[in-house]
Amino acid sequence: MTYLLDPAWHAEKTRLDDLAAHYDPGTAAVFDRIGVAPGWRCADIGAGGGSVVEMLADRVGPGGHVLAVDNDTRYLEPLAGGQVEVLAADITADPLPADHFDLVHARLLVEHLPSAEDAIGAMVAAVRPGGWLVVEDLDWSTVSTVDPPSPAHERVLRALRELFDTMSYDPCCGRTLPRALRRAGLDDVGFRAEPRPLTADRERGVPLWEMFVDQLAPHLLGGGLLTQADLDAFHRLWHDGESTGFGPLMVSAWGRLPGGA
Ligand SMILES: C[S@@+](CC[C@H](N)C(=O)[O-])C[C@H]1O[C@@H](n2cnc3c(N)ncnc32)[C@H](O)[C@@H]1O
Repeated sequence: MTYLLDPAWHAEKTRLDDLAAHYDPGTAAVFDRIGVAPGWRCADIGAGGGSVVEMLADRVGPGGHVLAVDNDTRYLEPLAGGQVEVLAADITADPLPADHFDLVHARLLVEHLPSAEDAIGAMVAAVRPGGWLVVEDLDWSTVSTVDPPSPAHERVLRALRELFDTMSYDPCCGRTLPRALRRAGLDDVGFRAEPRPLTADRERGVPLWEMFVDQLAPHLLGGGLLTQADLDAFHRLWHDGESTGFGPLMVSAWGRLPGGA
């Protein structure tokens, strides 16, 4: 299996919207830092629910262009028009326009792909000299920390790690990004990293965290990695109104292609 998650899962759009609400402010801070401006040509690869596409369209304005790329464009089609173009393409197989974009961005994509190096190489090839690549992925180094300590949480984490081992998903992807960008020939490489606080809520639970596990539940249960009782205990934990912890770190890395004006 390549892509871990199922775009057709019944709650996938809700999950993507929740991702956007959590991670868009960090992405916006990186765009502020590199100075995304009116008239820029941008591409968002693995654009998912399209929140970053909308953010970029707003920043580049009618004189700019945003190419929204995903191998499953069901949630992007409604955004097509004006400065936004939607392209169904697989970053591991289909070439992007070469030396073209002021900014290529990908969030929560590279961690799913069989070769981060190839994916980053393909995206670098689409950046114009002097343009930017921004890659954002998770690093699971922070997730074992829960207070009070929870066997239910530990069981789910162990099962997830076993599942990741059978797929191309890399839970250490985040930490590798700055070096990967330098190795791809980029200059001015920098990064930020932000852990997501998890706070149990009696009513809401922790939707983003619980939905990620729910979406993978058929694999976890079917593969004998977890029992339904483990899963129920995990959901009770995040509804106990008391437990706190850290979700994965979001690592946002950026770099600029040498050359250009
Ligand atoms: C976890 S979602 C992230 C969506 C969005 N970037 C965000 O951060 O909100 C990953 C997205 O990458 C897309 N994707 C997965 N493999 C891909 C590939 N090989 N080429 C292009 N898109 C891909 C999926 O369809 C999905 O929409």
